Amino acid sequence: MSQVQDVKNATDIVQLIGEKVTLQRSGSSWRGLCPFHSEKSPSFFVSEQIQRYRCFGCQETGDVFTFLEKYEGMTFAEALQTLAERAGITLTKQSFSAEDDTRKRVLEILDLAKEYYHFLLTKHKTGEVALKYLQGRGITNDSIKLFQIGFSLPGWDGVIKYLHEKKKYSLSDLEAAGLIIKGNGGRYYDRFRGRVMFPLTDHRGRVVGFSGRVLEKETKEAKYINSPETMVYHKSEMLFGYSQLYQFLRKENEVLIVEGEFDVISSAQAHVNNVVAVKGSVLTDQQMKLLSRTVNKIILSFDMDSAGITATKRAIEVAKPFGLELRVIRLPAELNSKDPDELARTQPQEWRHIVKSSISVYDFFLAASLKSHNAETPEGKRKIIDELAPIFGGISHAVELEYYVEKLATALQVKTSIVKADLEKFKQVKRAGLLRTPSPKPQVTEEKELPEKETRKSRLEEYVLFLLFNGVEEQIFARAEQLKHVHFARNALRQLINQIIAQTEPFHLADFAKSLPEDLQQLLMDVSMNKKYVEMAAELDFEKEWKKSIQELINLDIAEEVNEMGAELDQLEQKNEKTADDELRHAELLRKIVQLRARQQAKF
Ligand code: CTP
Ligand code: MN
Repeated sequence: MSQVQDVKNATDIVQLIGEKVTLQRSGSSWRGLCPFHSEKSPSFFVSEQIQRYRCFGCQETGDVFTFLEKYEGMTFAEALQTLAERAGITLTKQSFSAEDDTRKRVLEILDLAKEYYHFLLTKHKTGEVALKYLQGRGITNDSIKLFQIGFSLPGWDGVIKYLHEKKKYSLSDLEAAGLIIKGNGGRYYDRFRGRVMFPLTDHRGRVVGFSGRVLEKETKEAKYINSPETMVYHKSEMLFGYSQLYQFLRKENEVLIVEGEFDVISSAQAHVNNVVAVKGSVLTDQQMKLLSRTVNKIILSFDMDSAGITATKRAIEVAKPFGLELRVIRLPAELNSKDPDELARTQPQEWRHIVKSSISVYDFFLAASLKSHNAETPEGKRKIIDELAPIFGGISHAVELEYYVEKLATALQVKTSIVKADLEKFKQVKRAGLLRTPSPKPQVTEEKELPEKETRKSRLEEYVLFLLFNGVEEQIFARAEQLKHVHFARNALRQLINQIIAQTEPFHLADFAKSLPEDLQQLLMDVSMNKKYVEMAAELDFEKEWKKSIQELINLDIAEEVNEMGAELDQLEQKNEKTADDELRHAELLRKIVQLRARQQAKF
């Protein structure tokens, strides 16, 4: 058996997932709130028997490895390694690809580099100037330690000397780690020189890159230099401070998002510890996803210039699928602070107060719009509506929507029905623009091996149900109707289909799963996570397979009926004396058989 299989067998999926997600027994499975999308009632199932999980809300499904890949952002090799360690299995070299090996070395290099830079800042004479700089900016020793801040030597080859010449890592590995650059002449040199170094960590606290800030006020060079995209550093996933301040995010259940490293550190020093930086002002999907696992409220503290406004509007869109509440704070002009760093450092109490006085992002846009247009004039009213309709139109919670509709109507001195009509108009335009076109799926090439005749039908039945529950959700209801007259050898499957047909449209798989009695719920899990098919699901052309399979099921039904009629026909023909009734029946049977055969040949 392969080591992958060994590790899988040695791991219990219920226990593994149970450590991250609260699971409750539900029949022979376990159920909890889906960690992959936002929901209020649980549609995430974990099966002990099948050793797989599946969410009937967002359709995420997989095994112990994919769980770690998706939930922890691990590569397959890392998931394998983690689970092997858990199970006390030592993996042989063959389990890893060359890329996995490089990744491992790159992470080692980055960790050593962090220690090297930190040493230079805190213990070495050349780092004194940087230490002074940090002290001048009010950064405490505790912060330097917590964030493992460092200093890079001003020369061209500090990192090369230490990590290549002394520690014997290859130059190409150092390059893969983003620490050195190949010059025009082919010679390598350090990327970070004479800068304050901030290690950039992933959500598990591993160093994946650096940002470096120059010390001098006046310089031709960029103020900040960051690691390039590497096999471990992805800018779009970076949240500075997340791993160091994670416990505060958890405890507060909300996070303050600022722009830069110093904003985070000064804020934390002012005892606003639940803070992270996006390094710039664009919040990505991946960052939101990570945050949604830890908090349910986000407070933005962006510079509200036009870039900040755009970033805030975008954040509303990005936050929505995760069900995160968005709030904003602004630095009052009279406090004369240019950014959170400055304010938190010079007026910590004021900073805490401002963070506590965040307002909903919708109130923020309402206020901004009312400020820039005249709500007294018809043109002003129109401009305000035009500006706010795209923003308010996206509020999916009815009570919340009603609240802002009323607020807006009051501000404009118009009836709420008018505001509502305008929002509705906008929604329709948006919906029309968003109509999805399904992307074509790759075709299945090889024909699956056909089982012997008796089990063929029951296998086909299982396959059809697998296709039904793993295909497009909007089609489940209509497809179940197509199965209305198909005869199922396994009665429980028939029951499951009848349960679907008994639903009203629009059909929601998650609600359906929750509404089922325990035995059918388990059956739904079994058929939709069918081991035989799950692995090849990615390559299946569901539409084609569906048509083919139900035609096959129908053909089997017909064949059976034709057989029975054929037998009756034989009996009639063997009779010596046929009655008038016999003759009639004979003719009827013939006609029916011809009809059935025609249906059998008809393409679906
Ligand atoms: N940034 C960056 N690369 C740049 C400029 C900025 O990565 N060339 C990121 C840094 O994380 C920076 C943040 O964007 O902290 C915000 O930039 P900016 O407002 O210009 O700098 P400050 O945060 O005010 O930096 P400092 O206080 O050190 O001057
Ligand atoms: Mn600043």
